[in-house]
Amino acid sequence: VEELVGELIHACQDFFSVTVFPVLQTPIGVGSAFEGWSPHGDNAVYRLVVPLQAPYGHAFNLEESTPGEKPARNFWIRVQLNCSCVTEELVENIPCFLDHPEVEMRQHESFHLLGILCTGSYLDAHKTVHWFQNFVRAAWGVLPKTHRYHLKMLPSTGSCKLQLTDALGRAFFIELFFGLQQHDSDIFLCSCSRKATLTTSTTWSASCAVAEVKFFQHIARQVPRGSYHLKCLHVCTKILEGTGFSSSILKAVVMHLLTTTPLSGWCRRDFQLRLGDIMCCLQCCLEEKCLNHFFIANDSVPREISLPFSYRMAEPLNLLQHLVQDPAAQARALCEFVEIYNR
Ligand SMILES: *[C@@H]1O[C@H](CO)[C@@H](O)[C@H](O)[C@H]1NC(C)=O
Ligand SMILES: *[C@@H]1O[C@H](CO)[C@@H](O)[C@H](O)[C@H]1NC(C)=O
Repeated sequence: VEELVGELIHACQDFFSVTVFPVLQTPIGVGSAFEGWSPHGDNAVYRLVVPLQAPYGHAFNLEESTPGEKPARNFWIRVQLNCSCVTEELVENIPCFLDHPEVEMRQHESFHLLGILCTGSYLDAHKTVHWFQNFVRAAWGVLPKTHRYHLKMLPSTGSCKLQLTDALGRAFFIELFFGLQQHDSDIFLCSCSRKATLTTSTTWSASCAVAEVKFFQHIARQVPRGSYHLKCLHVCTKILEGTGFSSSILKAVVMHLLTTTPLSGWCRRDFQLRLGDIMCCLQCCLEEKCLNHFFIANDSVPREISLPFSYRMAEPLNLLQHLVQDPAAQARALCEFVEIYNR
């Protein structure tokens, strides 16, 4: 998957070099498939973040779209034009924008990002995805590695979803979403928002996916060989599949336990004990209606995971806040949990 996607991104970089389209960086594999506990089996979904950089002559500036949110997690990306005339190294295809009055700028619209992938002055996530989808369609079959798979582009506005089938009819999925790195940290502002209905196409939402992958890599470097911690996460996800418990909640619980239980305890012999711990911890969280976000307001996060300053300074963020506001939902969740546990 990484080679295939790498090839696509390279081709895209080449094709759009010396243009005003965003510059795509090396994609980063995230989520369960890359962390090693994929619950999907054969129909695996491989998610990758494709980091974006502003093209030549442009700058991306972040503006909070939900003021007061701490830490800010939803942003608009304002695209600013830097005049290329002031520097001597004028790039051929890019005319000078800033020196021109509005009228003349409009004539140049097709030459700058503002006229192509933006809504107003803001980078539009849906337009960016659409642009890349068109590129993938055009490039598929032309690029060597793509020959082996039949491509079906699945409808999606916030990410580019590809269903690939090989000659034997085996299918897998690749989902690419674009992300702007927030202040050189492991937080990326992504085209794929958590609550799609609440945001507009110009909203880019903070994702901890890269920080999470790094956390699991950090753990992998320390656990003894043959550790069962990923199997624990996999099995618990399977147990809770089809229930109201999201795998992100479960992952937060396991991440917490991984840092509080000695790593030698995640061996095969103690497998059942750890499964029990995970379920107990989840039950406790439900009863107390509290499970804090792992990366927010947490001074103990390993230093190799780089977080924006605002994350360390914020108040804890309760992932189960909706249960505090809705006692009936809490009762239902507990009931459902007990039912699964007794099965
Ligand atoms: C745009 O201009 C600013 C200030 O002049 C500079 O710091 C920045 O690097 C420039 N960005 C691009 C993409 O050219
Ligand atoms: C904060 O990080 C530490 C170390 O990684 C971990 O033990 C702890 O559970 C985290 N806190 C929360 C609220 O998740």
